[in-house]
Amino acid sequence: MARLFSVFSLRNLLVLSLALNVSLILRVLYEKESGVISGLSLDNKREALRTDSMPSEAHATQREHLSMPSSSSSSSTVDSNGRDRVINLDHGDPTMYERYWQQTGEKSTILIPGWQSMSYFSDAGSLCWFLEPEFAKEIIRLHKVVGNAVTEDRYIVVGTGSTQLYQAVLYALSPLDALEPLSVVSAAPYYSSYPLITDCLKSGLYKWAGDAQSFNKEGPYIELVTSPNNPDGYVRQSVVNKSGGILVHDLAYYWPQYSPIAAAADHDIMLFTVSKSTGHAGMRIGWALVKDEEVAKKMVKYVELNTIGVSKDSQLRAAKVLQVVTDGCKYPTSKEGSLFDFAAHLMEERWKLLRAAVRQSGLFTLPEFPHGSCRFLNISFAPRPERLSTIHLRQSMQVDETAE
Ligand SMILES: Cc1ncc(COP(=O)(O)O)c(C=O)c1O
Repeated sequence: MARLFSVFSLRNLLVLSLALNVSLILRVLYEKESGVISGLSLDNKREALRTDSMPSEAHATQREHLSMPSSSSSSSTVDSNGRDRVINLDHGDPTMYERYWQQTGEKSTILIPGWQSMSYFSDAGSLCWFLEPEFAKEIIRLHKVVGNAVTEDRYIVVGTGSTQLYQAVLYALSPLDALEPLSVVSAAPYYSSYPLITDCLKSGLYKWAGDAQSFNKEGPYIELVTSPNNPDGYVRQSVVNKSGGILVHDLAYYWPQYSPIAAAADHDIMLFTVSKSTGHAGMRIGWALVKDEEVAKKMVKYVELNTIGVSKDSQLRAAKVLQVVTDGCKYPTSKEGSLFDFAAHLMEERWKLLRAAVRQSGLFTLPEFPHGSCRFLNISFAPRPERLSTIHLRQSMQVDETAE
């Protein structure tokens, strides 16, 4: 047993920085039962729980940024057939809605002939000249039917995932002639990619400044508000109460399968992505709803400089996918029903399993989220985040780090 605890190598409170899902928890419990996990090499154990490249306050977040799985970044052991059994803790991959999309069949299929989508331009006269009009139309339809964001008087900027839009926002908000880089903060625990993306080019325009709760520097800053939050699932508001701040709302998870939709979000800069809403992470499509024309223009400029626009093929496919989602909400009697009903059910089932497994283990506790009423699903429920990277070891469980 002592060996099992030494795997996690922390004292009373254990915060696991894992991309955690139910199968992982079940796997860990299974391996605990069968004693398999204690057979891992020390290096593998360390590697599996490694968080060393992140700022300390991000330790409760998962390592979200992708890297190729390799034998050294996974903990593995051998199954009864002599094959490697691998738990990849490095990243999550949202393929869980595949079953829904399979049953939509032809409805969600598009055909792009070889001659189509050849120009750089999608709508040459509009502010975001690389935004496919069909995709813009479907974004507005979807937000209207779900009621999760105000789209009136907003510019839509499309990006290669919301990851590119995040960088576009930083570029757009940073004055070019400032004496020092603009501080970028977010309340810990935050999405672990933020600091990595912010500082990867060591920009002179902006700089990661860590936990928003302890930020006390004078002058302008950007505060990222991720709501519901990755990694802990909580609904959030800004925490820095100073003048000169600009808020950027990352609403990747503000969809009814994860969290009750309390009201239409009405912020100056809001980021969304198909990766979390429909599960199409591989399409690499995100969109920003931006109030200020100048900010939107600068974001467009960044995407122009960075990738000269965004794949039209992906946008056309995203338009089709959003259309199917919205139609499924409007006409729920259709064969496949609404994606959100399907996904909400799936998340609920996973959380039930996770809670049951954790309860049975007696080792961990999970957060309890307050219920809220959802204007889209017309029910009250507690958030059920897609990811959970913090589970707590019960206080009573002492870790004996010296034990062999
Ligand atoms: C809060 C949050 N924002 C943005 C992203 C990235 O989205 P995209 O795949 O559109 O780049 C993620 C991915 O996990 C996320 O958790």
